[in-house]
Amino acid sequence: MAATNNAAAAAAATETLPLKDRVAIVTGSSRGIGRDIALHFASLGAKVVVNYTSPGSSMQAGKVAAEINSSNPGSAISVRADISDPDQVKSLFDASEEAFKLPIYILVNSAGVLNPKYPTIANTSVDDFDKTFSVNVRGAFLCCREATNRLKRGGGGRIIMLTSSSVGSLRPKLSAYTASKAAVEVMVKILAKELRGTRITANCVAPGPIATEMFYAGKTEEMINRSIDQCPQERLGETEDVTPLVGFLATDAAEWVNGQVIRVNGGYV
Ligand SMILES: NC(=O)c1ccc[n+]([C@@H]2O[C@H](COP(=O)([O-])OP(=O)(O)OC[C@H]3O[C@@H](n4cnc5c(N)ncnc54)[C@H](OP(=O)(O)O)[C@@H]3O)[C@@H](O)[C@H]2O)c1
Repeated sequence: MAATNNAAAAAAATETLPLKDRVAIVTGSSRGIGRDIALHFASLGAKVVVNYTSPGSSMQAGKVAAEINSSNPGSAISVRADISDPDQVKSLFDASEEAFKLPIYILVNSAGVLNPKYPTIANTSVDDFDKTFSVNVRGAFLCCREATNRLKRGGGGRIIMLTSSSVGSLRPKLSAYTASKAAVEVMVKILAKELRGTRITANCVAPGPIATEMFYAGKTEEMINRSIDQCPQERLGETEDVTPLVGFLATDAAEWVNGQVIRVNGGYV
């Protein structure tokens, strides 16, 4: 009898998972914030596409998918695709539909690049500027466009773009990166309006400094300590400080949050 009750409780718990059988593509989820979002979505019942671009990250992305599949077999795949390439973005979405035979419901665009040399505008090369905009803006646009067209077919969904609190703090030596994230924030606010009547919401989540490879690359100890000083919580953010908000935005309960930029930064200024 106790075993029957336990099984019933487990079944009931599974049924109430807020993202049960919803398909989510999380770009840039081989590591960092995207990885944590992919794992969090899986814990909420989603089927997840783990994306990366560097050949060297294939194993890391595979491990994220394997971790998800170990508790929920058949719930994750990893797909290599450069989000700045329209054909590869299309292939990424095709791979999801082929693997899960379900419409895509959630897109999180966490893929992004930051020049670790922190150049001033005077010292920013055209190549560095173009690389930043190619991934952070063109990539975001391509993902938004593909998601918009695919999600519409499924009857609703969630588009969540990772931007940055730097759009608010406007620090020197982050001009190309910050301008790229500002462009995405404007695009997403317009997208939310264009999606009228589709039951698809579009929002940005804008973290402050989060302890990932991107944050540490090229930073001296003094720069790291300065970031900590600028935060009233007196620490760097962790990926787990960002993911619960992204998880909430993906649920039905978040339908009324639309066209917003939500800064998640511990009060960082
Ligand atoms: N960490 C922070 O302090 C911070 C603060 C504010 C905002 N953000 C934003 O949050 C997002 C995640 O940052 P993070 O710290 O997790 O970065 P990260 O640790 O450097 O991870 C970046 C991820 O993006 C992927 N990626 C890079 N270029 C790509 C492309 N062209 N196509 C597909 N995937 C690509 C990487 O894949 P590979 O492994 O293949 O390279 C990796 O999975 C970024 O958009 C970033 O701008 C971060």
